[in-house]
Amino acid sequence: MSGLALRQIEPEILDQLPETDPRAVASRRDLKRVNAIMAQARITASLLRANLVKPPRRILEIGAGDGTFMLKVAERLAPDWRDIELVLVDRLHLVSDTSFAAFGALGWKVRTVQADVFAYVDENADQCFDAVTANLFLHHFNDGELCRLFAGLSQIAPVFVATEPLRGSLPLLSAGMLWAIGANDVTRHDAAVSVRAGFAGEELSALWPQEPPFELQERRRGLFTQTFVARRGEAPGA
Ligand SMILES: C[S@@+](CC[C@H](N)C(=O)[O-])C[C@H]1O[C@@H](n2cnc3c(N)ncnc32)[C@H](O)[C@@H]1O
Repeated sequence: MSGLALRQIEPEILDQLPETDPRAVASRRDLKRVNAIMAQARITASLLRANLVKPPRRILEIGAGDGTFMLKVAERLAPDWRDIELVLVDRLHLVSDTSFAAFGALGWKVRTVQADVFAYVDENADQCFDAVTANLFLHHFNDGELCRLFAGLSQIAPVFVATEPLRGSLPLLSAGMLWAIGANDVTRHDAAVSVRAGFAGEELSALWPQEPPFELQERRRGLFTQTFVARRGEAPGA
């Protein structure tokens, strides 16, 4: 894993482009296909099902982007989980009316919050969620920032599920081949940066606070994804 032994965090182009820049719009479209190739929605839905003792009432997604990733998760869960209140936090407001309507049709009530995640978590420590999710988001932050974020998240929900880029040779090679699906220069650049900033082993577990006690599960799923689950209390069915 030469050159990949340690996380390297570099700026991503998409984070620096204006919201409506055509390259940014195209890259967000690419991201949907990347999420599909990585099977991120399927993985998140199955981790939520496996780790929630009963159907949740309130879910928070941090770094939710345009909400289309969580919509795919909701489509998988909605047959069993209805009347969910979903809060989508992102520093940009990207969720379209079409997505709001699609969540509504599934019986999920969505609220978007445009905020920096650190400020949101600090200011909403008293908010109770049943679960918090993050997809292709944590790798933006260094270990110190993640420690601070995790300390806050451990106070606001009993379950945290993250699906992040796996840092490894195959994911890096595959990022370099995204031209094959027509991905633009922004997506191709940011995909490689994301893999180098991604996670392996038990790196996320090491950053989760020791108190209150949580059970941690971290592992690779599929070829490209590192999953992390922190769950307070007993396992479902235990
Ligand atoms: C790679 S995108 C992933 C979006 C979504 N989770 C998905 O899978 O489609 C990362 C998102 O994190 C958001 N973001 C980055 N830094 C943030 C911060 N400090 N606070 C809130 N959102 C942030 C960006 O605006 C972007 O929408």
